[in-house]
Amino acid sequence: MSETVLGILASGRGSNMQVILNNIHSGQIHAKIGVVISDHPTAKVLEIASAAGIPAVCVERKNFATKQEFEAAIAAELVNHEVKLVVLAGFMRILSGYFIGLFSGRIMNIHPSLLPAFPGLHAHEQVLAYGAKVSGCTIHFVDEGVDTGPIIMQQAVAVLADDTADRLAERIIKVEHALYSKAIGLYCEQRLCIEGRNVKIIEG
Ligand code: GRF
Repeated sequence: MSETVLGILASGRGSNMQVILNNIHSGQIHAKIGVVISDHPTAKVLEIASAAGIPAVCVERKNFATKQEFEAAIAAELVNHEVKLVVLAGFMRILSGYFIGLFSGRIMNIHPSLLPAFPGLHAHEQVLAYGAKVSGCTIHFVDEGVDTGPIIMQQAVAVLADDTADRLAERIIKVEHALYSKAIGLYCEQRLCIEGRNVKIIEG
């Protein structure tokens, strides 16, 4: 089976991207990162990609008159780099139906809560404000809603009595790193099958 080409979209520090790259190098994920795209010129994720010799591209919203033109520019980069799976790793923009339609069933996201609880921004703060005792992370395919697409994998993390958002985030990000690579690995092995809202994992 040939390597699946990943396109990573990220706005920030890129710790998930770094771990995905490490796990490609170690052979855990049979893939190659074709391009890393950020909407922020100073995002650390672009530095990490460049240092690793991966094409690193900044596409800024302010350079386009409309959201669709902005997304078309991102899509063009993905297509130019022959990307099969679009991996959102802290990409802080909501993608439109237009973009999602171009990569239907081929966009994954990671969210730092147990969806459908606490979608959107500031998940850890939401969890603590609500008084939930369990949080975690969710990997899902992206649909037109915010963090609403079919769930691929989830893992729970206990909320501790003295947690702050930062402490909870620190424990959850470790789980995120492990789980995202697992889900991407399964996709690359063609072991994920979307049936309506359900994602079936085909036994290896
Ligand atoms: C992660 O917590 C992810 O769940 C959320 O954005 C954060 C990205 O972190 N969507 P990083 O840039 O991968 O370090």
